[in-house]
Amino acid sequence: MTNKRRILVTSALPYANGPLHLGHLLEHIQTDIWVRYQRARGHECHYVCADDTHGTAIMLKAEQQGISSEQLIEKIHAEHSQDFNDFLISHDNYYSTHSEENKTYSEEIYLQLYKKGFIAEREITQAFDPEKQLFLADRYIKGTCPKCRAVDQYGDNCEVCGATYSPVDLIDPFSTISGAKPVDKQSVHYFFKLPEFKAFLEQWLTNENLQSSVTNKLGEWLEAGLQEWDISRDAPYFGFEIPNAPGKFFYVWLDAPIGYMASFKNYCENNPKAKDLDFDDFWQKDQAAKQGTELYHFIGKDIINFHGLFWPAMLHACDLRLPSAIFAHGFVMINGEKMSKSRGTFIMARTYLEHFKPEYLRYFFASKLSDGIDDIDLNLEDFVQKVNSDLVGKLVNIASRCAGFITKRFDNTLAATLPNPQLHNDFIRESEAIGNAYEQREFAKAMRLIMALADRANQYIDEQQPWVVAKQEGRDEELQAICTQGICAFATLITYLKPVLPELASNAEAFLNTDLNWDSLEQSLCGSKINKFKPLLGRIDNDSVEKMLGSVKPVEAKKPATKKQKKSVPEDNSIADEIEFDDFAKVDLRVAKIVKAEHVEGADKLLKLTLDLGGEQRTVFSGIKAAYSPEDLEGKLTVMIANLKPRKMRFGMSEGMVLAAGPGGENIYLLEPHQGAAAGMRIK
Ligand code: MSP
Ligand code: ZN
Repeated sequence: MTNKRRILVTSALPYANGPLHLGHLLEHIQTDIWVRYQRARGHECHYVCADDTHGTAIMLKAEQQGISSEQLIEKIHAEHSQDFNDFLISHDNYYSTHSEENKTYSEEIYLQLYKKGFIAEREITQAFDPEKQLFLADRYIKGTCPKCRAVDQYGDNCEVCGATYSPVDLIDPFSTISGAKPVDKQSVHYFFKLPEFKAFLEQWLTNENLQSSVTNKLGEWLEAGLQEWDISRDAPYFGFEIPNAPGKFFYVWLDAPIGYMASFKNYCENNPKAKDLDFDDFWQKDQAAKQGTELYHFIGKDIINFHGLFWPAMLHACDLRLPSAIFAHGFVMINGEKMSKSRGTFIMARTYLEHFKPEYLRYFFASKLSDGIDDIDLNLEDFVQKVNSDLVGKLVNIASRCAGFITKRFDNTLAATLPNPQLHNDFIRESEAIGNAYEQREFAKAMRLIMALADRANQYIDEQQPWVVAKQEGRDEELQAICTQGICAFATLITYLKPVLPELASNAEAFLNTDLNWDSLEQSLCGSKINKFKPLLGRIDNDSVEKMLGSVKPVEAKKPATKKQKKSVPEDNSIADEIEFDDFAKVDLRVAKIVKAEHVEGADKLLKLTLDLGGEQRTVFSGIKAAYSPEDLEGKLTVMIANLKPRKMRFGMSEGMVLAAGPGGENIYLLEPHQGAAAGMRIK
C-alpha cells in the first residue's frame, strides 16, 4: 500500500425546507463514489454533511404548516436521512446546523473576526413589511413591472419583458408574505470585510487543485471588485443570535459552512468509530499542515462564490486550515431541460425510489460525470437503455453465463488455474487507469474503461462457447476452466464498480464467497468454492419511467400571488399527504354552467366566468385565458368549489374557483361532468 492519506469530505448542506430531489442526489452520489473509492484504496476518508436549517424560508414554511421551526427541521432531518440512506450514501455523520457545536463555532469564528477588525457595522435601508414586521429580501417582494406593466413580477426582474430593476422601482409593490405595501426602514447590519482579503484570495486562486472553471469564475469576481458581505439579519429570523448584538442573527450562509466543522466535531466526540480522531488534525491550521490532512467540499456550481471566496477568507482570518480543493459540479437536467415543477419533471428522491433501485441512478450518474461543471442530462430513455445494456446485458450476464455450470457440474468449485492468465492480467492492469479516473472524478471515463473490459469478458465467453463445450464428452476440465475465467473476470469488474454499486457488490461477494478488495485484485479465486448464483439485478423498462413521471404532480411553478393575499406563497406548492374525510366534506363541489365567459381588460391570464348554480349566479376569475376562447366555453358544464371564501382580486371579486387539470398555460383543461349532470348538483 502506498501512503495512507487522511481525508475529510463534505457535500453541500441541503436546505431543510423541503424534500431532497435528484439534483441533491447527483451531488451526494458523486461525493459518495469518490469517498468509497478512497476508502477502497485503504485511505482514511471521513464524509460528513448536515441539513442547513436556518433562514427566513424555513421560518415561514414552518409557520405555514403551523409548527415551530424546530419541529419542521426535525421532521425534514428524518426524511433527508432516510432518503440518503436508501440511496446508499455513506455519510459518517449527517447532522444539523441547528446544533450546539455549530452555535459555538459560529460565535467563536465571528468573535475572532470581530476582534481582528474584520467586521464593519453600519446602518442600511431595506424594504420592510409593516404588517408582518419583517425585513423583506427581494424575492419576497412583487409588483407591477415599471417597464412593461406586467403584474405580479418579482422584485428584481420581470419575467415578461426581461427588465432588471430594484424592488423600489416596482409599481404597486407588495409583500408576498402579507400582501402589505413595503416601507423603507433602517437597521444596523454587520459586514465581513471581504475586500481586505484580496491579496489572500489571489494567492488561494493559484491552488492547482481548483478546477479551471472555478478559478475563472472566482477570478472574474475578484476582478469586478470584492464587496463587504452582509452577515447579519434582523429578528424575527430562525438562526443564531449574534454575540453582543441583541435582535441580530447570523445570516444563514455565515453558519452553514461552519456546519461542516460542527458535523465533524460531533462525529469526533460521539461516534465510537471516531474515538481516535482528533478534530484539530483536520481544522487547526498548523496541525493540519503537519498531519498532511486533506479537506474537500463537493458543491454545485451555483454556490462557488460562498465556498471559493467567503469561506476561505473566513478560515484564513481565523487561522483555520483551507480546503485542499472545492469540487463543483453542474446541474441535473431531465430530458435536456431544467427540472421543472410545471412540466412535472421535478423528481424527488423518494419518488424515484418508489419506482427504481438506487443503484440504477448511481450507475447512470457515474456514467455521465466528469470533473467539470457541465450540466448532467438525465435523458430517461437513455437511462433505461444504459442500465439494461451495461449493468444487466454486460455485467451481470457474465456471471449468469458461467455460474450455472460451476454449480451443476463442479459442485460449486472453480478450476485451480486460469486457461487464459493473460486476459486476467489485462483486467488487473487496467486498475491503474480506472483508479486514476476515479481519483480525478472522471467517473464517466472509469465506467467506459470498466464496460470495455466487460465487453472483452463477454467476447471471451462467446468465443469459448461453454454451452457447446458442456455438451461434449471429455471436455469437463475445459468447461470448468472457461467458466472460472469468466467468474474471475466478473469478480474483477465488481471490485472496480464497488464504489458505484455497493449493494450489488455485496450480493456478488456473497455469491463469490469472498470479499472483493482493490488491493487484493491479484489474489485469484481459483480453486475456491462459490455459492449458487441468484439474479443480481433486473431489467427496467419505459413503463416504469412513465409511471414515475405520472406520479410527479405537475404544479404551477409560481402561483399567481394576488395583491391582497394574506398567506405566503408556498415555495414548492406541496400537497398534504392525507386529509380526513371531514376535511374533504367541507368542500362544496358543484356542477356549474358557464353562462358567460369574457376577456378581462388588462389581465394577461384571466377569463371572467359567470357561472350558474341552478338559479344562483357566481362570478369567478380563472387563469385559463391561454387555453380557451370565451366563446368555446359558453354553455358548457364544469365543476366549481362553491364555498370558497370570496377573494377580492385586482379586477373584481372572485366568488369561487373552477377545477382544471394540467401544468398550466395553454395546457390547462377544465373538468366537465358526464352527460346527465345538471347545474347546481352537489358532487359527493
Ligand atoms: N444550503 C445551501 C448549501 C450550504 S453549504 C454550506 C444550498 N442548499 S440547496 O439545498 O439549495 O442545495 C444543496 C446542493 O445541491 C448545492 O450544492 C446545489 O448546487 C445542489 N443542487 C441543487 N439543485 C441542483 C440540481 N438541480 N442539480 C445539481 N445540483 C443541484 O445551496
Ligand atoms: Zn416587464
